[in-house]
Amino acid sequence: MCLKKTVFFLICVSLTNCTQKPNIVLILADDLGWNDVSYHGSNQIPTPNIDALAYNGIILDRFYTQPACTPSRAALLTGQYPIRTGFQGFVIHAGENRYLPHDVKLLPEKLQDLGYNTNLIGKWHLGYAYRNVTPTYRGFDYHFGYWNGVIGYFDHIAEDEGLTGFDMRRNFDVMWSTQNQYATELFTTKAMEVIMNHNETTPLFLLVSHLAPHAGKRGVVYEVPDEAANNEKFWYIQDDNRRKYAGMVDELDKSVGKIIQALFEKGILDNTIILFMSDNGAQTVGPVQANSGSNWPFRGMKFTAFEGGIRNVAFMYYSRLKQKNVVYDGLMHITDVYPTLLGAIGENTNDLKLDGINQWNTLMQNGESNRTEVLINIDEVENWSGIIFDGLKLINGSGSFNQTLEGFYGDDGRNSSNPPYDPIKVLNSTANKALNSNLTEALILQLRNKTDIGNCRLDYDGNNCNEGKMCLFDLINDPCETTNYPRKINHMIQIQIQFILIIPGPHG
Ligand SMILES: *[C@@H]1O[C@H](CO)[C@@H](O)[C@H](O)[C@H]1NC(C)=O
Ligand SMILES: *[C@@H]1O[C@H](CO)[C@@H](O)[C@H](O)[C@H]1NC(C)=O
Ligand SMILES: *[C@@H]1O[C@H](CO)[C@@H](O)[C@H](O)[C@H]1NC(C)=O
Ligand SMILES: *[C@@H]1O[C@H](CO)[C@@H](O)[C@H](O)[C@H]1NC(C)=O
Ligand SMILES: *[C@@H]1O[C@H](CO)[C@@H](O)[C@H](O)[C@H]1NC(C)=O
Ligand SMILES: *[C@@H]1O[C@H](CO)[C@@H](O)[C@H](O)[C@H]1NC(C)=O
Ligand SMILES: *[C@@H]1O[C@H](CO)[C@@H](O)[C@H](O)[C@H]1NC(C)=O
Ligand SMILES: *[C@@H]1O[C@H](CO)[C@@H](O)[C@H](O)[C@H]1NC(C)=O
Ligand SMILES: *[C@@H]1O[C@H](CO)[C@@H](O)[C@H](O)[C@H]1NC(C)=O
Repeated sequence: MCLKKTVFFLICVSLTNCTQKPNIVLILADDLGWNDVSYHGSNQIPTPNIDALAYNGIILDRFYTQPACTPSRAALLTGQYPIRTGFQGFVIHAGENRYLPHDVKLLPEKLQDLGYNTNLIGKWHLGYAYRNVTPTYRGFDYHFGYWNGVIGYFDHIAEDEGLTGFDMRRNFDVMWSTQNQYATELFTTKAMEVIMNHNETTPLFLLVSHLAPHAGKRGVVYEVPDEAANNEKFWYIQDDNRRKYAGMVDELDKSVGKIIQALFEKGILDNTIILFMSDNGAQTVGPVQANSGSNWPFRGMKFTAFEGGIRNVAFMYYSRLKQKNVVYDGLMHITDVYPTLLGAIGENTNDLKLDGINQWNTLMQNGESNRTEVLINIDEVENWSGIIFDGLKLINGSGSFNQTLEGFYGDDGRNSSNPPYDPIKVLNSTANKALNSNLTEALILQLRNKTDIGNCRLDYDGNNCNEGKMCLFDLINDPCETTNYPRKINHMIQIQIQFILIIPGPHG
């Protein structure tokens, strides 16, 4: 790598008109629900920094992910649907012998080839059965964080399938010294260190992969830095768990503010593409570790093919975007991130052979999305599959956990017990002050109104899609998936079959 970087550097200094490639900062939240950011219309948990960044950039309103952590992260880093790499099933358990195939070039590996300094702060969750499948062998020059799916916020202990162990590392060094530091603060500090110490002769890639607001330590689950202060701040939330969850989201929001501030202080904010997204929907209730997050008004949650599992919080900020303050309603999938970022830094993406589509030009122009369909998944163990095609969604079975998570969950956060939304808080946020922002109160309220889907749950026809039953939903007119359209199912099955026949691509 050193050699490649030196070569890049030498080429760079020897050219007269050599412009630095943009830096890339990708902030990934874990199990953050659609309705847990205040820019989607909830008044319950104010997220002024996140909102400021979203309103100043492009809000990706129809951004789809996989319904659980490992598959989503695999899709993000490979640019391919998880069925291609064997990651279509459940998340990786502690000690499990599964990892990303070595013949697939991951996004950080590609960026390394292009001369980027690559850093992962926080969660990996893509396997650690061998040294050469861990982050520093899979494209990251530096990793500070954990390998498992979840750790305690303070004790940094992972506990899963009868295995228990401390999981906080700097590359391969076990970092006992960080125990008892609140994870969100720790990762923020480490991310800021990466930014402040960055040598600007190379471009920076920083993936901040937060634990927040995923459930934490087993048996405790909800962990905030200061419970008394949190009770005072969120006194109006009656449910104990939801109140603590609000504190966990609040810490995530502060982290975003600090990272933007650090980019500003370093003087590289204007040349940095920032993407923020959640890996999947919140797990409001139910199996494994629920976090009381809310995907309101959507149906379902994490682990399901419903919108609550896969249509997620996402936005992009870049000072050089031609269109800003935009709600982009074109279809996007998490696999698009890989080629879109490469497009953004001026690489030719035609020969990549990914499922992801380079949407950079479309985003720059706020044009029509180049994507008309999404393969939601084909899970041959838990027996469910689904596609989105032309604004319709066909699912055959609704997801994991024996397809029991078919209901409507989560707080709407809109009733009068919550404080009214305060645009001044957004204008006054750390992030907004660092950005070259042209937000006004009126513009904030206008954009927020556009992203607020409102209560679309009311017409539920009682359908269920479990046990291999098929359901067809009209996502454009019925984003809450209340009404099954069985008459059109045969037509969609034909489309699905054709679609599956074309799928063999990169490895086929
Ligand atoms: C940054 O990297 C360049 C090229 O490797 C090197 O010459 C320079 O000394 C570095 N700067 C700092 C502050 O480390
Ligand atoms: C804010 O500035 C951006 C360009 O920097 C522009 O695209 C956008 O229209 C502006 N918004 C308003 C409301 O003026
Ligand atoms: C994407 O769609 C635009 C029209 O919105 C078209 O001009 C462009 O060629 C398409 N790009 C690709 C890579 O398909
Ligand atoms: C999936 O289907 C197979 C074949 O019908 C069956 O053996 C298996 O138990 C099913 N799995 C679940 C989780 O229901
Ligand atoms: C799934 O649930 C059905 C009843 O809803 C039950 O008969 C079946 O045994 C369950 N399968 C598994 C694998 O738990
Ligand atoms: C508002 O919503 C909360 C949470 O769902 C609930 O506990 C409370 O009773 C509601 N308050 C009013 C005034 O409806
Ligand atoms: C703006 O933020 C500062 C601290 O950053 C605070 O002292 C002040 O009260 C805030 N103003 C408003 C109107 O929220
Ligand atoms: C958005 O604004 C329009 C016009 O004022 C209003 O009719 C609509 O109810 C608003 N939508 C939401 C979700 O508040
Ligand atoms: C629906 O899923 C079941 C397995 O649960 C499978 O046997 C059946 O072939 C699927 N139907 C279609 C049309 O894909």
